[in-house]
Parts: sequence; structure tokens; C-alpha cells
Amino acid sequence: MKGIVLAGGSGTRLFPLTLVTSKQLLAVYNKPMVYYPLSVLMLAGIRDILIISTSSAVPVMRSLLGDGSKLGLNLSYAVQEEPRGIAEAFLIGAGHIGGDNSALILGDNLFHGAGFPESLRRSRESLDGCTLFGHPVPDPERYGIGEVDSEGMLVSIEEKPPRPRSNNAITGLYFYDNQVVDIARGLAPSPRGELEITDVNLEYLKQGRARLIGLGRDCTWLDCGTYDSLLAASQYVQGIEKHQDERVACLEEIALRMGFIDAEACYELGAGMRQSNYGRHLTEIAYALD
Ligand code: TTP
Repeated sequence: MKGIVLAGGSGTRLFPLTLVTSKQLLAVYNKPMVYYPLSVLMLAGIRDILIISTSSAVPVMRSLLGDGSKLGLNLSYAVQEEPRGIAEAFLIGAGHIGGDNSALILGDNLFHGAGFPESLRRSRESLDGCTLFGHPVPDPERYGIGEVDSEGMLVSIEEKPPRPRSNNAITGLYFYDNQVVDIARGLAPSPRGELEITDVNLEYLKQGRARLIGLGRDCTWLDCGTYDSLLAASQYVQGIEKHQDERVACLEEIALRMGFIDAEACYELGAGMRQSNYGRHLTEIAYALD
């Protein structure tokens, strides 16, 4: 399975924070936001990942993450000049996907929870068509909402419904089989001028091949698109890291746990940042996890 992190957009709700910086490079507590979606793909066991961002942010992302080899990944980069819609990721990423399945994650989405990595791996193995991930929200009228049958198959998607049929919001993580590229190629822009991911999902729904996995209340899902949600995300990560002796989206640790790098490589990466708690943590766990 190939991965795509879609990390473009304009971030207008965060102005002036994002007037000259990409949203996905802003800090969420102690690391750049893009670490969080990248960690999700790594936890799903995906190593071949395309990062799509704006022309000004791609060089910065590249200098931050390089070709991924230090993390045992193969990272590549592509530019989306304008935010022409989430589904455009499959046109930009068609060459990267080739004949494979793909996982798309939005660059400002944070997922965290005990059963989440296992749920990712199971969904990846059983993929047939598309798998979306739902999360209960208190204000479903603000989201794309999915309704499922008793088998977990999606039966409806409603965008910001005034009278929602469920409180299961469709999050920014999507698994697709290889048909997604053709479906995206056949899309016309919506009235707001975007290639809509909902139109892709509706096509799979029409074929009866769209599954919605409920992430449940043990999994936290946050997007970081507003001042308050950005701060809430930082506070969430701070709470976990300070009080539960666990790291969220610590890419080097995940690479070690997933067997993408060895203890020595993890230690060296930590030693290069040993002035920070983040770096020291890596040097401490490198051989402890071995
Ligand atoms: P949004 O939050 O919908 O848009 P935005 O990031 O441009 O922010 P704002 O609404 O404040 O202007 O996008 C969700 C995520 O998807 C975000 O990480 C940016 C990304 N995205 C793209 O990279 N390209 C696109 O064409 C779209 C629509 C979104």
C-alpha cells in the first residue's frame, strides 16, 4: 500500500499564523504538525509515502524529512499549486500509486489511541473498495457524516446535515483500492471548484464497496485547523507525554518499533538532538526496546 499525506491548502482560518508558513509546519506541542499524519501511515506499516504541499512548503518539508531513509521510509514530494480539492491528491499521486492500493491522510489530522494501530493494520489487510474511519462528534452538523448498516458498510454520506442521521464524522484518513485513481480522473469540480473526496466515496458507496470503521471513543481525533483546535491538540499531546510516559507521533520511535530502523540508528538520531527531551527520549529507548 502506498501512502499520501496531503499537506497543502491555504490555512486561512489560522491567519496570520499561516500568512508565510504552511499550517502543517506549525508546532503541535513539541513537533511539526506533519509528524502526526506521517506517524499514522507508518503505524499502518506504510513506508512508501508521497507528501503533497504548496510550492513554498515542499522545500521546507524536504529539508525537514529528507528522502525518509533515516526513518527507513521512502519519501517523495509533489506540489499542489492551489487547493483544488482533496481528491486531486490521486491525480497528483497517480504515478506514485502505480498499481497499488493507497492510504490518504490530511496533513492537519491527529489520531491517537490504544487500539488504533491494530485497527489500521486490520483495515489495510481486509481492504476491498474503500475504508473510511469514523469518529463520534458532539456537533455532527459541522462534518461529513456517515451512516452504516449492520455489516459496517456505508449506506449514506451527508455533508454538514441540519438533521444528522448519526454522529459518526468521516475523518481525514482514507484507504482505497487502485480504482481510486480512475474515479478521481472522472470527477468534475463541485460548485465550490474542488475535486471532492466525498464524490469519490459516494462512487464506492454506489458500488456497495465502502466500509466505515468506527474508531470509537478510545481513539482521539483532532484536526488542527483553527486557533482553538491547534491549541487543544498541543495540550492533548502535552498531557499524554507528561502524564502517561508515552510519546505521540515520535517518528524515530515508531520506526524502531515497526522494525524500519535498528537501535543504533535510533540512538544516533536521538544523539543529534540530545539537547531536547525529544532527542534524549530516543537515546533512552533505543536499546531498551531492542
Ligand atoms: P481545509 O482545512 O479544508 O483547508 P485549509 O487547510 O486550506 O484551511 P482553511 O479552511 O483554514 O483555509 O483542508 C484540510 C486539509 O487538507 C489541510 O491539511 C489542507 C489539505 N488540503 C490540501 O492540501 N489541498 C486541498 O486542495 C484541500 C481542499 C485541502
